[in-house]
Amino acid sequence: MTAVSAIVLVGPMGVGKSTVGRLLAERLGAGYRDTDDDIVAEQGRTIAEIFVDEGEPAFRAIEKAAVHKALAEHDGVLALGGGAILDPDTRALLAGARVVYLSMDVEEAVKRTGLNTARPLLAVNPRKQWRELMDARRSLYEEVATAVVATDGRTPEEVTQVALDAL
Ligand code: S3P
Repeated sequence: MTAVSAIVLVGPMGVGKSTVGRLLAERLGAGYRDTDDDIVAEQGRTIAEIFVDEGEPAFRAIEKAAVHKALAEHDGVLALGGGAILDPDTRALLAGARVVYLSMDVEEAVKRTGLNTARPLLAVNPRKQWRELMDARRSLYEEVATAVVATDGRTPEEVTQVALDAL
């Protein structure tokens, strides 16, 4: 198994992985990559369309392949989709890598993302869905993380600085 050299950002939807990821890459003089963007480019359709057309299990298989490809290829900053860590092989691949978990509390998540039809996992009852998502995933994010950075009440620039200090 090839070692991962990227700095990997994990955490829930809307926590600011792309914004912070870009800032972090800029500060490090490194490239930025996002697995959601890779999937959209490769598939020629949006994430929401993939969910509607094929369902979540099919999306997860597409996502797993995209994540493993990016982890093998990229040595800059890499943001993973919020559910990528659900896959045990992906979590195993991240062992030993530098992984920053950007966290936020549920109320902050509801406030930031609202009722979001572009995010299929939040399209019905965001507060309840957020609680369930975070209850299911919090320990998985913590399992892969080498640094945890709370984003509540912090600007993206502040989050980036805390992440840099923690790396
Ligand atoms: C998902 C997060 C999304 C996207 C998809 C599913 C999730 O990515 O991959 O909607 O399961 O949390 P972002 O975290 O980049 O929004």
